[in-house]
Amino acid sequence: MKTSFEMQGSARVVPLPDFLARARTLVDTQLDLLLPAESVSPTNIHAAIRWSVFAGGKRFRPALLLAIGETFGAPRDSLMATACALEMIHTYSLVHDDLPSMDDDDLRRGRPTCHVRFGEPSAILAGDALLTLAFKTIAEDEKLTATKRVGLISEIARAAGTPDGMVAGQAYDLEAEARNVAAEELEKIHRLKTGALITAAGRCGAIIADASAAALAAVTDYAGQLGLLFQITDDLLDVTATAEAIGKTPGKDARSRKATYPALHGIEATRKYLASTHAAACEPLSRIDRPTDLLRAIADFILEREA
Ligand code: IPE
Ligand code: IPE
Ligand code: MG
Ligand code: MG
Ligand code: MG
Repeated sequence: MKTSFEMQGSARVVPLPDFLARARTLVDTQLDLLLPAESVSPTNIHAAIRWSVFAGGKRFRPALLLAIGETFGAPRDSLMATACALEMIHTYSLVHDDLPSMDDDDLRRGRPTCHVRFGEPSAILAGDALLTLAFKTIAEDEKLTATKRVGLISEIARAAGTPDGMVAGQAYDLEAEARNVAAEELEKIHRLKTGALITAAGRCGAIIADASAAALAAVTDYAGQLGLLFQITDDLLDVTATAEAIGKTPGKDARSRKATYPALHGIEATRKYLASTHAAACEPLSRIDRPTDLLRAIADFILEREA
């Protein structure tokens, strides 16, 4: 990827893959400090948490939060706890998404899913623990004022829960299996199950940085479209990618008769729709009064991702 940009605290201009790799290292180091050690009782739950968290996820949501926070001038150390909290919630959502009563998947992030490795009760509790540890992490973040912590907790609780967040989206996703859904309904499912948390990642970065209301609105539009782009590329990869590339079992959506864009409209139409969603994600960047190369490169990365 050719796009490059200034990285905070470094005079060097770095390409996007380097930014993402650096974000991954920072987030993983901090997550290791924030999560209970495996030796702490109940050890099976802490082992299950660490099995799922430290399995090589892309860390896209925390990276997006860092990118937007730094775009608007927030010090990196004011962003880390919230970035990690989002990854905890995202990982909980994957653990529960994979359960036999939901998508019933055996492979995640290239290894057996949490319930396959640790049993269903431990997987449910590991997910519950990750969700609550996320809110504890923000509530106790001494880098932020109490007012800001409450604002971030409210923002993320809305995005993760119901009626306007991920839990609602997951409910609609399951309910739409084996049924023809209209374009608007499919977009609503995507917006809630995946878009809400990705939008929250963008908004939290802007909120921590004290961005203006206009900038926050542009970030909301950008990250909202990025969320749609992210789920449609996920659904396309389920059809086109290998298990080695995505670390999960491809072809599962068709077998579960999931409502997805490729299932409803075919691969060619999906690629066209991806291009227009990518353009819609980039459009709000013109309303941001800061260098947006990094944010544009992130949209390109999601469009072109192979994992
Ligand atoms: C997978 O998310 C679930 C969706 C919302 C599509 P990611 O593709 O971000 O999964 P990891 O974190 O990299 O494993
Ligand atoms: C996941 O959508 C959305 C979540 C909130 C976890 P998918 O069910 O398509 O995600 P994968 O393909 O299992 O990662
Ligand atoms: Mg699912
Ligand atoms: Mg799934
Ligand atoms: Mg999927």
